[in-house]
Amino acid sequence: MSINYSEKIPNNVDLATDRKLQRALEYWQPHFLKWWQEQGPNDFSSNDVYLRTAVGVDAQGWASYGYVKMPDYRWGIFLADPIPERTIGFGDHFGEPAWQQMPGELRSQFRRIIVTQGDTEPASVEQQHRLGLSCPSLYDLRNLFQVNVEEGRHLWAMVYLLHGYFGRDGREEAEELLARHSGDSDKPRILGTFNEPISDWLSFFMFTYFTDRDGKFQLKSLAESGFDPLARTCRFMLTEEAHHMFVGETGVGRVVKRTLEVMKELGSDDPAAVRAQGAIDLATIQRYLNFWFTSSLDLFGSEVSSNAASTFANGIKGRPDEDRYEDHVCSEATFDLETPDGVETVSLRNAMNEVMRDAYIKDCEIGLKRWNMQIKRAGYDTALRLPSSRFRRSIGSWAGLPVDPEGNMVDQNEFDQRLTDWLPTESDRAFVHSLMQRVVEPGKMAGWIAPPDRGINSLPVDYEYVRLN
Ligand SMILES: [Fe+2]
Ligand SMILES: [Fe+2]
Repeated sequence: MSINYSEKIPNNVDLATDRKLQRALEYWQPHFLKWWQEQGPNDFSSNDVYLRTAVGVDAQGWASYGYVKMPDYRWGIFLADPIPERTIGFGDHFGEPAWQQMPGELRSQFRRIIVTQGDTEPASVEQQHRLGLSCPSLYDLRNLFQVNVEEGRHLWAMVYLLHGYFGRDGREEAEELLARHSGDSDKPRILGTFNEPISDWLSFFMFTYFTDRDGKFQLKSLAESGFDPLARTCRFMLTEEAHHMFVGETGVGRVVKRTLEVMKELGSDDPAAVRAQGAIDLATIQRYLNFWFTSSLDLFGSEVSSNAASTFANGIKGRPDEDRYEDHVCSEATFDLETPDGVETVSLRNAMNEVMRDAYIKDCEIGLKRWNMQIKRAGYDTALRLPSSRFRRSIGSWAGLPVDPEGNMVDQNEFDQRLTDWLPTESDRAFVHSLMQRVVEPGKMAGWIAPPDRGINSLPVDYEYVRLN
């Protein structure tokens, strides 16, 4: 189904044939634009940015590229093409036809999940609100804005479902999605990680690597949903999400690369010497990694969760890549969980959060391997590592316990003292902030980051990706 761009709200859902829904969304649209003006990258409203826009929803060639002023970006409603005769792939409804309408008894569960997912999308735009002012290059500035406009579109994706399938409750929730704000003391965003400030680009790259990857796994599990409009929405969102993780993986990789260059010039890996040359020492990169990885782990929820069991049983939320498993019903299967009190055997359905978290951790390892390959090639016998999933947890059975990054329980005093080795300190943050000087000459890079291997859409790295004039 092709995308109709002649309408006020671009879409491939035949919006014009549903006047009521169209009117409701057209009423919401100016509220969204007002939110974007206030909470988005508003210092750059009048600049031309080289952005991609969705033009189709198939895997090949779904996007076109060109200069756009961000407030003119064509946010809209794009669903992946339907799979003919799709059936529900997991849970108690396994094998039944997928639902085109929302089953009444599952409404509130679906609503909570859609609202929670929807809340993260504008939250990240708010978190990154002022980053553009300290961009390390025009290439990076453009990538930030691409991520921002697509998170805005992901909000549209969830708002479409709320308006389309939840009546008045849904319309109210859609307004609330614009009323909560990241870090706001009265009306914060729903999930913790999305209230953490992202005020430097190292945090931005860690966020897009680790936290957008949580998004990928949530979307993958919702792409399995028995409710077909939600599944199709999430399938298309995943194609956009891939770029966000590319920004994170290559971003961190380029920071590491620049650090290694400086270490080589110096003939030393001494953090103070590396910092004196304006690069970020590997130990600081590791502490930032520890912070964002552990914060993102909490987004999967408690290891044992009756809520997770129920959304699985009810066909609401499956496992990422449900196809990979043999048993899609999981009514008898069990899962061995490592808790502070030893191994506990629980029903697999109750452990679905942990199944997802494990899959996520495996996926996180891929980037680490690439970054560590660079370190090894540079001749250093050190590596970046993912800390244990028991470290610095705020949710679940390991929450609040003094566990070191290797996963060992340690004395509380020792834990408190060593925390400055493991997480970014005030002085780390101050140092990283001191590097955040804006670089906007085409092709030039800030001194703490290496240039990318290639530009966007086969253009050269020194292309004028954002026209600032
Ligand atoms: Fe998103
Ligand atoms: Fe994202």
